[in-house]
Amino acid sequence: MPVLLKEVIEVIAPASGKRYFDGTLGGGGHASAILDKSSPEGFLAGTDLDKESLLNISKKFSTYGNRVYLFDQSYTAIDTVCNLLGWEALDGIILDLGISTIALDDPDRGFSFLHEGPLDMRFSSDNSLDAYKVVNTYEAGQLVRILYSYGEERFAPRIAKAITNARPIKTTTELAGVVSSAIPRRFWPKNIHPATKTFQAIRIEVNKELSNLEEFLPKAVKLLCPGGVIAIISFHSLEDRIVKQFFSGIKNLHTLRGLPISNEIDGPHLVSIFKKPLKPGPDEVALNPRARSALLRAARRVS
Ligand SMILES: C[S@@+](CC[C@H](N)C(=O)[O-])C[C@H]1O[C@@H](n2cnc3c(N)ncnc32)[C@H](O)[C@@H]1O
Repeated sequence: MPVLLKEVIEVIAPASGKRYFDGTLGGGGHASAILDKSSPEGFLAGTDLDKESLLNISKKFSTYGNRVYLFDQSYTAIDTVCNLLGWEALDGIILDLGISTIALDDPDRGFSFLHEGPLDMRFSSDNSLDAYKVVNTYEAGQLVRILYSYGEERFAPRIAKAITNARPIKTTTELAGVVSSAIPRRFWPKNIHPATKTFQAIRIEVNKELSNLEEFLPKAVKLLCPGGVIAIISFHSLEDRIVKQFFSGIKNLHTLRGLPISNEIDGPHLVSIFKKPLKPGPDEVALNPRARSALLRAARRVS
């Protein structure tokens, strides 16, 4: 079930004759809505690292014919993809970050501490780094760094020590047990599993999620045509901070009698569409609990 679908479609306002990019196709929910709304002549290029998702979508999307192009690539290849297609500019760009529900619920992918599975956590089966390597070969200091930086985990040193002492750790549930036992019970979070932050941190490290986003944003905005919109849905504050800082960093716009003026001549200029990130309402969260922590930021390129 695509998160914040109505809001994404409202800001992107797909129209026939335009070109769109969905960097995180997943189950294809956002992409198919963009294709439907931009019928009959709207085009969409999309990427995903998950081969199974791509296979499913390619079957589902066969009805769109040559209006859709799917790539087994990271969204950071947005420039290469556009180059290949001969597209010089895009009218709308969407990223819906993170992991698909299908992958999260598949124990063999090793994303969840709730199901016993191998320590994998890779979005792409081509990735040579997996969670097993991080957990079993990183030095304690490296583990502390990623737990602090990517999990904001205050018990990082204790957890790192517990992990190195318990090696080899082979499964998700084993890791969840080691992490839980390293955190004093009185500090266990009330609403989430004690291993949530550690799992998040390891997943971000395995998939280079933050550096991918940092690499993507300037490339994407360069490809956006004036008037075009970029929309990013993130699921935690680390990603949202990167998007927020990027949108405001290249904005540099002041408003004079309603007209945007800029003190910089060159380079793309963006204006944020929402002052604060948009969150799903209670009705959406009730229907789709995965939407709970979603944050949508969107910006329009003005020059
Ligand atoms: C939350 S799902 C997207 C759901 C999708 N919007 C929908 O409507 O079904 C996120 C997807 O992004 C993919 N992904 C994560 N990082 C990626 C990257 N760097 N490049 C391409 N795809 C990525 C994951 O494999 C996953 O399928």
